[in-house]
Amino acid sequence: MRLTLRVWRQKNADAPGTMTPYEVDGISPDMSFLEMLDTLNEQLILDGDDPVAFDHDCREGICGACSLVINGDAHGPERTTTCQLHMRSFSDGDTIDIEPWRAAAFPVVKDLVVDRSAFDRIIQSGGYITAPTGSAPEAHATAVPKPAADTAFEHAECIGCGACVAACPNGSAMLFTSAKVVHLNSLPQGAPERETRVLNMVGTMDAEGFGGCTNTGECATACPKGIPLFSIATMNREFVRAARKR
Ligand code: FES
Repeated sequence: MRLTLRVWRQKNADAPGTMTPYEVDGISPDMSFLEMLDTLNEQLILDGDDPVAFDHDCREGICGACSLVINGDAHGPERTTTCQLHMRSFSDGDTIDIEPWRAAAFPVVKDLVVDRSAFDRIIQSGGYITAPTGSAPEAHATAVPKPAADTAFEHAECIGCGACVAACPNGSAMLFTSAKVVHLNSLPQGAPERETRVLNMVGTMDAEGFGGCTNTGECATACPKGIPLFSIATMNREFVRAARKR
């Protein structure tokens, strides 16, 4: 496949950025999107140019590091992570626009890399339990009802990639934060911090500059792990309950 790429190039956080066109040839439909970018970077390095900076780690859809807006969609045309997107989703001769996540709370560091440490600070404010874990516990020492276990697992699938924020017209982190809150608040092990968790995590989310939720639902549509939109409603109920209790 021969492709025209229009890639966001930005030297650093303070420099202005611009879409820069590149041609790549010999792209296999079986390549992942990141392997296609590797090919571009090999070409740039051979030409003595600065390679395109982009985030990645596992390349298996589990770490959440890869984060690109492709032709206007967070993670591109498939409902998956950028590293799990394959070039068979595109056609020979296509022009592909590649941009970083666009959100005030995710400032661009360089090219396609954004600073997502705001998510880390939300996690730090409540994404933990204080129950002593010690050595490997007896699996049934604390009984977890099956529906609660299912809910917790469903929300624990969030990999914190930030696609929900990038897709939201408000740059809201409600889906991410609700996944973390609902995951732990559903479990008996998370009960001691149930109120402080939701109050602190929502407070940190607001302080980090994420926008508010207006129920557009783009976040759940873009989420590669299928975190459901109703988790936001669950978090809102948890928040109201905690605020009234306090
Ligand atoms: S690189 Fe880990 S999810 Fe894509």
